[in-house]
Amino acid sequence: MIVAIDGPAGAGKSTVTRKLAERLGFMFLDTGAMYRAVTLVALENEIPLDDDRQLADIAKTIELHFEGDTVFIDGQDRSEEIRLPEVTRKIKSVADAVAVREHLVALQRRIASTGDFVCEGRDQGTVAFPQAECKIFLTASKRFRAIRRALQLKEVGKDVTVEEVISDINVRDYNDENRPVGRLMKADDAIEVNTDNKSVEDVVAELERIVQDRIASSSNAPA
Ligand code: DC
Repeated sequence: MIVAIDGPAGAGKSTVTRKLAERLGFMFLDTGAMYRAVTLVALENEIPLDDDRQLADIAKTIELHFEGDTVFIDGQDRSEEIRLPEVTRKIKSVADAVAVREHLVALQRRIASTGDFVCEGRDQGTVAFPQAECKIFLTASKRFRAIRRALQLKEVGKDVTVEEVISDINVRDYNDENRPVGRLMKADDAIEVNTDNKSVEDVVAELERIVQDRIASSSNAPA
């Protein structure tokens, strides 16, 4: 079974979806990590970020694999580097490159064909897994997303104002909602869940109920 979870940055997706996968006994696929990995390798090799062909070559040739939260690129643990602010700043060109997306979506489908998965990203319910049995679109108001992000940054010693974070969020939303392929949008058959004012535990419980209902209704469906 595939549970596809999409939504904007800062809606709480990654924490919640990891915990949901654990509860369900499913595996977890962080597709943002894939775009981050290609961006990191492009930056390290000084590949021009407007060269879609070379970016696609990277997506095609790097060996990406995941063990829990650890992301391996060509056999090396690069989990920390892919989250560097420089990678986040430069990821737009990689996520916009149609040929990169084709390779990464194909890889996502190969990985997810190996078992039950919760897949998290921007285009999981729309492009990667339009037939997913369960689709969730996780949202939150801009203010809540910014507060969450500012608290995360504070934990790693970076003091930023909520207003500064909101302006970053506006740029990321614009980029995510306006890419040529795979843009962030709710699939018609996705259930929207707003995470404002809810604890991680509450959101995980709500999502688990949605998935369990879906499992129950598909096992009751006439053959
Ligand atoms: O989920 P994240 O913040 O780690 O994702 C990083 C970027 O990767 C995000 O700004 C957009 C892109 N992305 C994408 O285009 N498609 C996905 N399925 C996942 C992420």
